Amino acid sequence: MAGKTATGKLKTQDHQAGALDVAAVRRDFPVLGQTVNGKKLVYLDNGATSQKPQSVIDTLTRYYEEYNSNVHRGIHALSQEATERYEEARGKIASFIGAASEREIIFVKNSTEAINLVAYGWARKYLKPGDEVITTETEHHSNIVPWQLVAESTGARFRYLPVRDHSAPFDIDGLRSLITSRTRLVAVTHVSNVLGTVTPVADVAEMAHAAGAVLLVDGSQSAPHMPLDVVDLDVDFFAVTGHKMLGPTGIGFLYAREELLDRMDPFLSGGDMIATVTMQGATWNELPYKFEAGTPNIADSIGLGAAVDYLSTLGMDRIEAHERTISEYAIERLQEIDGLTLYGPTDASLKGAVFSFNVDGIHSHDVGQVLDSEGVAVRTGHHCAQPLMAALGIGSAARASAYFYNFEEEIDTLVDAIRKTQKFFS
Ligand code: ALA
Repeated sequence: MAGKTATGKLKTQDHQAGALDVAAVRRDFPVLGQTVNGKKLVYLDNGATSQKPQSVIDTLTRYYEEYNSNVHRGIHALSQEATERYEEARGKIASFIGAASEREIIFVKNSTEAINLVAYGWARKYLKPGDEVITTETEHHSNIVPWQLVAESTGARFRYLPVRDHSAPFDIDGLRSLITSRTRLVAVTHVSNVLGTVTPVADVAEMAHAAGAVLLVDGSQSAPHMPLDVVDLDVDFFAVTGHKMLGPTGIGFLYAREELLDRMDPFLSGGDMIATVTMQGATWNELPYKFEAGTPNIADSIGLGAAVDYLSTLGMDRIEAHERTISEYAIERLQEIDGLTLYGPTDASLKGAVFSFNVDGIHSHDVGQVLDSEGVAVRTGHHCAQPLMAALGIGSAARASAYFYNFEEEIDTLVDAIRKTQKFFS
């Protein structure tokens, strides 16, 4: 895909002028100004969830204070306003990711549900014994377990791209060699939640489509951090959770090409997703409602719309550029620490701002605890990626993950806190 970046955007795309004013941006996030354990909070757990700007918090409050009502059913003023805001949020999301139509955006509760929707609505309907589903060893469990279950129930083969070198770029040649004429689905993460490695999605789409397969991308760790255009990337399914991109918890979305959604079976059934019901059977509602059974998560969908507004105003290009600078700095500083193993590429252009590491002789949970006592919030454990941990020969790791509101000085605090941990356990 010459002329395109890993995110699928044309290289000639205009960038918004100027770098982010991080100090000003931080004032929009009430949580960030606090102290924790007597220390200034350094929040580096953005891969797990992002903080929320005041505009998102106010949007939720306004919904409950001013127009709390159910959608798509009332003719009264409150219901009409709720419906309008709910559908407006869907439109904002469609524009944010470059979808051709709002009908291609299905509200779900998180990426896991989005992937399961595809597993139940598409894969279980269309896969046959001997067909192949291909994923990678770096995936989050949410992009592994549903395919293992699909393979069990359909007789399809579950295959995966192993991790040979955690610091290498995405192994596109390895993936090419796995895809065969029996491959029906390729399911990959856009950005690894442990290694940060960015998948060249447009290239994977080309390979998958050439084999007649469809491509599902887990965008949980990419949508918050980089400009996206699902049409340029040529993905078939794109799963996103809202809470890592400034939105509330409990809301996310699935993007899927309309012709696929038309051919799929509903995932959940019951209220709202029907056109007609008799005691003999039912017909399905039009898109996207065929896939939104029951009263949806109205407040949080509207809140996610506000998050998209906030990100769009800042500019995803500027967010990506700032995080690249943070990554370059973090990689350099972390590599200065003797006895620290950093996982993932050390070239910041190949990865998101995710820094997983272990410190010789100290369990990651102990590292996390000392960092917490210094006010530094990181995640420790297997990061819902046990197969990757096994491939790396470790049981767990500590992970610092940055966002656009982090400063380089916070990386210095992280590094100082890791050195303190080493002293404490020496
Ligand atoms: N999947 C999220 C993470 O990587 C929770 O931390």
